[in-house]
Amino acid sequence: MSNVATKYMGLELKNPIIVSSSRLTRDLEGLKRCEEAGTGAVVLKSLFEEQIDVESDRMVGDLNFDAYTDAYDYFNEKSRDYYIDEYLELVESAKKNLSIPVIASVNCVSDGGWIDYAERFEKVGADALELNVFIIPADVDTPGEYIEKKYFDILKKVKKRVNIPVALKLGSHFSGMAHTMKRFGLEGADALVLFNRFYRPDINIENFTLKAGQILSAPQEMGLTLQWIAILAGKVKSDLVANTGIYNGKDVVKQILAGAKAVELCSSLMKNGLEVIPRMVEELSQYMERHGFESLDDFRGKMSQESIDHPETYERSQYIKSIVGIE
Ligand SMILES: Cc1cc2nc3c(=O)[nH]c(=O)nc-3n(C[C@H](O)[C@H](O)[C@H](O)COP(=O)(O)O)c2cc1C
Repeated sequence: MSNVATKYMGLELKNPIIVSSSRLTRDLEGLKRCEEAGTGAVVLKSLFEEQIDVESDRMVGDLNFDAYTDAYDYFNEKSRDYYIDEYLELVESAKKNLSIPVIASVNCVSDGGWIDYAERFEKVGADALELNVFIIPADVDTPGEYIEKKYFDILKKVKKRVNIPVALKLGSHFSGMAHTMKRFGLEGADALVLFNRFYRPDINIENFTLKAGQILSAPQEMGLTLQWIAILAGKVKSDLVANTGIYNGKDVVKQILAGAKAVELCSSLMKNGLEVIPRMVEELSQYMERHGFESLDDFRGKMSQESIDHPETYERSQYIKSIVGIE
């Protein structure tokens, strides 16, 4: 078996596979199952900023569960008073019962009062904090700089309060994306998790209602992540973690070749079971043996944009016209 260990945000992971924040990581039993399956680390189900800042009754009333997948699990299946104390207890018991790194997660949209609680995650033993920053730039009157500033305000304030590493889990809705990602690194983001998969709305055409689109990702969605990990690798200070559409060991190999430190996943595990994890580790290990790689560092970034002969290939944004036969 090859050495598949990796260092992520300074944490030692026995392999680069991380179970991402989801219903798989919402309680101790689930977390133990993930560890038994062999995952390198876990990101706990997110605590929502609104759970810290707002009355639960009001919050539950405001949320449309059909339309908000990350929150759906959480509020629909857990009791309403699953507040910060319960969350901190979960972090604490995860730390006591697991030997792999435990990453706490907050789903947030502002630099408001919730940040006062950030250090409590550290106090109860979280090895790191992942911030799932969820700001959809949907307001036609709000310019991009204003929205980007919110991300930076959140990051800076959280970094002031905690000593553990902080990862930003982001969507791909940024203009000047590479530059913005570089600045996140300069402002202290220890890692960038690229990309979160946001809720996608669908329309019921018969009764004119909105419903959630596909909740779980599909393997073909991985391309966007692969492209941006490859573009950013070696150019930003933050560790890069690939997320969305990772289904098998080959996907893990591709993301490491692109430059990722680790991968996060949950859809493939929900669809195909936790046994996907040992299969991925095995496939990764076999690949390394086939190519004579002794560690992940031996091939990490080998296919990043700065390492390949035709770096512009990662920037082709249109179909290559000659291939599709269009003038
Ligand atoms: C049912 C469900 C619940 C999720 N809940 C959270 C959450 O609480 N916090 C979070 O950061 N991401 C959440 N996610 C997003 C996943 O962690 C992950 O980023 C996304 O599904 C893309 O990865 P995948 O393609 O492996 O599914 C959730 C995803 C699903 C499907």
